[in-house]
Amino acid sequence: MIKKLIIARHTGFCFGVARALELARAAEPPLWCIGPPVHNEAAVEQLRAEGIHIAESLDDVPEGAGVMLRSHGADKALCEALRGRRVVDATCPCVARIHNIVQTKSGEGRRIMIFGSAEHPEVRAVASRCADAAVISSLEELAARGEDDRRKPYCVVSQTTAHRGKWEECVYFLKKHYTNVEIIDTICGTADTRRREAEEMAAKADILVVVGDNASSNTRNLAACAPNAVIVPSSRRLPALLRERCVTVAVTAGTSTPASIIEEVVKKMEEMMNAEVGTAEEQAPQEADTPETRADEAAADNGESFAELLESSVKTLYTGDKVTGVITAISPTEVSVDLGTKHAGYIPVDELSEDPSESVQEKLKVGDEIEVFVVRVNDVEGTTMLSRKRLEVVKSWETVEAARESGAVLEGTVTEENKGGVVVSVKGVRVFVPASQSGLPKDAQLSQLVSQKVRLRITEFNRARRRVVGSVRAVQQEERKAASDAVWESLEVGKTFEGTVKSLTSYGAFVDIGGIDGMVHVSELSWQRIAQPSDVVKPGDRLTVRVLGFDREKKKISLAYRKPEDNPWTKFLNACRVNDVLDVKVVKLMPFGAFCEILPGVDGLVHISHLAHHHVAKPSDVVNEGDVIKVKLIAVDCEKKKISLSVKALTEPEEDEGDGGASDTEAVAIPLTPEDAGGESPDGDAMPDGEAADAEKGEA
Ligand code: F3S
Repeated sequence: MIKKLIIARHTGFCFGVARALELARAAEPPLWCIGPPVHNEAAVEQLRAEGIHIAESLDDVPEGAGVMLRSHGADKALCEALRGRRVVDATCPCVARIHNIVQTKSGEGRRIMIFGSAEHPEVRAVASRCADAAVISSLEELAARGEDDRRKPYCVVSQTTAHRGKWEECVYFLKKHYTNVEIIDTICGTADTRRREAEEMAAKADILVVVGDNASSNTRNLAACAPNAVIVPSSRRLPALLRERCVTVAVTAGTSTPASIIEEVVKKMEEMMNAEVGTAEEQAPQEADTPETRADEAAADNGESFAELLESSVKTLYTGDKVTGVITAISPTEVSVDLGTKHAGYIPVDELSEDPSESVQEKLKVGDEIEVFVVRVNDVEGTTMLSRKRLEVVKSWETVEAARESGAVLEGTVTEENKGGVVVSVKGVRVFVPASQSGLPKDAQLSQLVSQKVRLRITEFNRARRRVVGSVRAVQQEERKAASDAVWESLEVGKTFEGTVKSLTSYGAFVDIGGIDGMVHVSELSWQRIAQPSDVVKPGDRLTVRVLGFDREKKKISLAYRKPEDNPWTKFLNACRVNDVLDVKVVKLMPFGAFCEILPGVDGLVHISHLAHHHVAKPSDVVNEGDVIKVKLIAVDCEKKKISLSVKALTEPEEDEGDGGASDTEAVAIPLTPEDAGGESPDGDAMPDGEAADAEKGEA
């Protein structure tokens, strides 16, 4: 008794066989085929009934009758003998490809090695197209060929229905031991997919039923892939085991088995189940969720019979259909897709993706499901050209339209500059962005955007006119506003930000700290005295700035670029004490004394009265700018940041020298720098002319 049926997703004629039969039926009678057109007795009988004759050799074919070449392909000698006669060439395109390969490679001086069965008509036809072809059917045969053989220039191809595992063993050996070999994988994706599917199903079932004829190489290969497989040519020859005990049965079929026979076998097994499929499902042990078990469950849920499922697996395709298939092969030029139909699906490499930078082939793998768009169905060749790119575009139009409705932001790449704006490719949809919406300043070159990724909002969508308009500026404004709000929220005095200098004025630099601008006053740019902001920064510079204060109402932020830890006054206070003896450099002479640099940015004053014990008429009488002199630090006014130095305090007065100056410890109010002094007196007050004269005399 059968308790559960698992049916293969891929059954019925492969596209090569289906195409051959269609060509035969469409041909003008009388038509003769030399050898059976398919390796299935029932299918051959059906063709005979339809008036198609089978001949042993060309001699049996009457003059004037058409001759059909089988999907396996015909020997070169037969093709030549048929010159001038009416020929229906039903050679499967996959086989014809091998003919082309071996002829080209033979022409290039390579010897051809074919992995397959030497007796198979396909292999014989391939071998007939090249001189002295070697045929191997196993790794053992290959390994036994001897050392000399391994140095010869070979091109190795496989029979389309060869066993992939055995082929790969040979490929490994060839790569390891042959020194001049070109290997071209010519195993048919359709046959390969069915074999892998059969292996998976066999592992989940007590018995794998392969519906087909023993004469079919593909059917035999399917049966060979599992120890529990049995070939069943028709519903009359079901194994006794199915009646004897409760079993789970998986069903697959050879590529030359007509759908009607598979349907018959499945129907018979359904009858044997003795119960509704749903009941059997309940009794069945839990299984992994797989396409096959899902198919069974769907059938049970929907009340569909397996025959109906089978029917749907040989569906017809139309241009414009969106379909899902399984990848069966990936080559540098195309991806082969099994759509579960009689046609061979393929996606040319340039139909894989809209984005030329995307290497789709690397992301795909054999066995993956893929959704595609049907571009062209070629019934004569039995092929269907597919496109992933066009399906992407169809989906993209839907995405773009939805974005227009929802206001969602999209991303695209600028592909070209045109009159009045730029074109942005959004998943293959061309979106026009006017110059005013490009996000660039008015006079900027739009060409700088080409190849750039941009974010934009769709402002106009007209599918009928294929017109889509977008705005980059709108997104930038929104993003800037959001960023600005976030910055205002996070503002705190003392907090630091990374910013970019946007512009300079005479009084400071405007810095963008992420959506809002703050101002660094010239006095906050550097601890050194600078003439203008451009002495320190320029537009475009990236700075770390510190918030000194802000006014949310007036939208004003004051920033500092100079760092507190670099404050030279602090450094001075940390390094020097009153009464320290310092080496300083005279940087400026004034009538009332000499300014000396203690540290970069920190100057002290040696008042004229402290330059010497004797009376000094003018500072230049005793020191010059640039001199390095020893001084004593005699006073520091932290509040006014003034430092008094003395030369006199380092020496004893000579007897005849009077002490005309201030005492050693007297704090003299002194500007921090010569510039601070300007026309002012040393104590910081505006210095009247008369007092300036006094200062010149050392009378502070
Ligand atoms: Fe052709 Fe593959 Fe069928 S080679 S005949 S499509 S099994």
